[in-house]
Amino acid sequence: MESVVKKILVTEEQIDEACKRLGKQITIDYADKGNFILLGLLKGCIPFLSDLMKEIKLPLIAEFMDVTSYHGGIESTGDIRIRMDLGTSVKDKHVLICEDIVDTGRTLDTVMKLLYHRGAASVEVVTLLDKPGGRVIPLNCKYIGHTIPTEFVIGYGLDYDELYRNIPYVAVLKESVYSKE
Ligand code: PRP
Repeated sequence: MESVVKKILVTEEQIDEACKRLGKQITIDYADKGNFILLGLLKGCIPFLSDLMKEIKLPLIAEFMDVTSYHGGIESTGDIRIRMDLGTSVKDKHVLICEDIVDTGRTLDTVMKLLYHRGAASVEVVTLLDKPGGRVIPLNCKYIGHTIPTEFVIGYGLDYDELYRNIPYVAVLKESVYSKE
């Protein structure tokens, strides 16, 4: 699998440090709120949510939505599809959306509007990776693990054509992998 890696951008140690740092801050910020939902957007969120939630020392409900915008390629299509909705009401709840990466901002813009429309008390975002150079819709994430340049990355939940999510670090994908197609 490593043969598709051009360069490692965020190491396993840096991911671990980010989870601890973000978990600590979220624990402080949400300590008095109650009604706390950590909402993972599948599938990319899986490793990050799993590691991050262990660092949040508060009662929380973990929920998931399956939302997709890339449909397997290397660019966001702008066509946001909800393949699976979350299983509980967000009314009067404090929702913290957990993402692997924020790129154009389209996915979050759609999901945040939907959650507010459904009556969430607050909606914030924790993302392992922020790619501000890709932004099409202005969007600020409250909690960011690492800011990365505008390159296509894989690993730690992030895929290319559904592969490489199980690489334990974040890496730039070799151009030759997708330029062949
Ligand atoms: C990725 C990622 C975010 C979104 C970010 O999901 O997990 O949800 O794209 O891109 P955006 O800011 O340009 O909207 P993807 O659609 O690839 O689905 P996946 O999580 O199942 O891989």
